[in-house]
Amino acid sequence: MSPEQTPAGLVIAVDGPAASGKGTLARRLSAHYGLPYLDTGLLYRMVARAMLDAGHDIRDADAAARLVSTFEESAFAEDTLRGREIGEAASVVAAMPAVRSGLIARQRQFAAQAGGAVLDGRDIGTVICPQAQAKLFVTATPEVRAARRHKELAGRGEAATFEGILADIRRRDARDSGRSDAPLKAADDAVILDTSALTVEEAAAAAIAIVEHRRTAR
Ligand code: CDP
Repeated sequence: MSPEQTPAGLVIAVDGPAASGKGTLARRLSAHYGLPYLDTGLLYRMVARAMLDAGHDIRDADAAARLVSTFEESAFAEDTLRGREIGEAASVVAAMPAVRSGLIARQRQFAAQAGGAVLDGRDIGTVICPQAQAKLFVTATPEVRAARRHKELAGRGEAATFEGILADIRRRDARDSGRSDAPLKAADDAVILDTSALTVEEAAAAAIAIVEHRRTAR
């Protein structure tokens, strides 16, 4: 697909729970519109990785607050961030207000690039880019998300049962939705896209249609 002409400053916010397919859709939107893409979950995963590598207790909010202002994104290979343990640890540090506020500037700078950007996460449409022209909230049933994550982890050679992953997903949903600072929720002006019964191609077509509708409605 050839990148389309992008109007100045098209910012697309893609939020949703773990393994909802938001990363895949955000990458597809980025390719379609020729916009740079930021997976903001990786930033929380980097803080978690830095905490574990330094030998800190993952619940040590003071240590996390220090690390968030000093860590270098280039110090982490993406492959070391995608595992199950890091996803879990990321959702613990992501509930800490000092970690969230420490990551805001990097995310907003990325979104402010000329031409715009696609960002995915949990609070892009609500906190990071409330002015985004297009906001999607991507979701799917816990069982469908667990099946997708199971397949993804198996592809990485990580052995895990479907039931164990489903329990992870439910715990992470509860933690991400229940935290007081920037909880996971759809922005009032987000369009909800349930991908439970959609193939990647169908979901990508639906996501592009939602963005097109928002662009032309401006
Ligand atoms: O891929 P998956 O959805 O499992 O995880 P992720 O998007 O990499 O995010 C990992 C964790 O970081 C989530 O469970 C959230 O707790 C946190 N996160 C967040 O709080 N805000 C964001 N914008 C992105 C991630």
